[in-house]
Amino acid sequence: MSDLQNDQNSKSDAPTGVLGWLGERYQIQGLIDYLAKKEVPSYRHSFWYYMGGLSLLFFMVQIVTGILLLFYYTPGKEAYSSVKFIVEKVEFGWLIRSIHSYAANLMVFFVFVHMFSVIFMKAYRRPRELTYITGFILLALSMGMGFSGYLLPWDELAFFATKIGMNITESVPLIGPIMAGMLKGGPEVGFDTISRFFALHVWGIPLLMIGVLGAHMFFLQVQGISEPDGFKALPVEKQKRVKFFPTFMYDDFLIWLIALNGLIVLAVFFPWGLGPEANVMAPTPEGIHPEWYFMAMFQILKILPNIGPLESEHIGNIIFGLTGAILALIPFWGNNRERLVSYFTIAVLAGLIIFSILAYHAVGSI
Ligand code: HEM
Repeated sequence: MSDLQNDQNSKSDAPTGVLGWLGERYQIQGLIDYLAKKEVPSYRHSFWYYMGGLSLLFFMVQIVTGILLLFYYTPGKEAYSSVKFIVEKVEFGWLIRSIHSYAANLMVFFVFVHMFSVIFMKAYRRPRELTYITGFILLALSMGMGFSGYLLPWDELAFFATKIGMNITESVPLIGPIMAGMLKGGPEVGFDTISRFFALHVWGIPLLMIGVLGAHMFFLQVQGISEPDGFKALPVEKQKRVKFFPTFMYDDFLIWLIALNGLIVLAVFFPWGLGPEANVMAPTPEGIHPEWYFMAMFQILKILPNIGPLESEHIGNIIFGLTGAILALIPFWGNNRERLVSYFTIAVLAGLIIFSILAYHAVGSI
């Protein structure tokens, strides 16, 4: 073959378009080859592999819409009036706020689904301990994002629900009062609390999340997606795998597109509400409750009795702390305790669902 033909052949194999342009300038071919070599198992439970991606999508939506809300939102005394201005005066302000609030809830929902699915698929096993641990930190941070964001509109529900949350924080043994004091910025939940929650909501927690998420994704890229026992037990000819790039990624994007459509439908047809401005002197109105993902804990605290010198809130905190620690350490329980892990996780999941239903029933929403 002549040099000219060789040159033409190698040119026709090279990537074109943006990848080609970048490839001429930077050594990205290695990265493309690496991604193209990676494979994802494709079988009847593969659906669960999209849950992490959906959590990521809603996190990104929150960052974008959160930045837009920051153009008008003012923490402190003007918090409520600035949100009212966004909802009533700013063009499409109501829509951006609605998308932001729904995306926050959907993110927490999909992070929970993702966590339970990785536990049931035993993806926490060696060597993925750190992927699991970084994921667990992301779950805690996602809940922190929700809790800190809830107060920012400073409407009645936001204020009283945060007050309850602060009382619970205060009852955590030893560190509780210090933490609650730092968060409140005074003896009671007030305008200073909004500023502190604001700092955490727009800077502290998102920056931490981006760092931890980077580590989570890095571990995932290095180790690839796990192959569950059910997949490995299939006859070899039935063990289908798809390329991560581009097949799995394109499917991921398609699911993102469907999810974004769902999000827009929710935000447009059921716009996120804004209650009356909080009145710090008023007694707690009936039916005040936290976000849905704190409802089970809220209910458990309500029904727990005092035992000896221990108040019900202390007992509740011990139960929640221990359950969280046991869940976080699942990868280190040992190989012979996998069945126990599954039973424990089913019990936690059932507890969350049952106590949440009871809690909504008690506040009169179901
Ligand atoms: C903001 C929160 C989170 C995001 C954005 C996220 C994102 C992702 C993505 C995109 C994947 C790859 C696809 C998949 O398996 O779904 C993944 C895998 C994984 N995640 Fe997460 N994740 C989050 C939270 C969590 C939590 C709470 C846990 C568990 C406590 C967790 C544990 C894992 C594990 C073990 C894998 C590997 C799965 C496998 O190899 O089969 N992640 N994550």
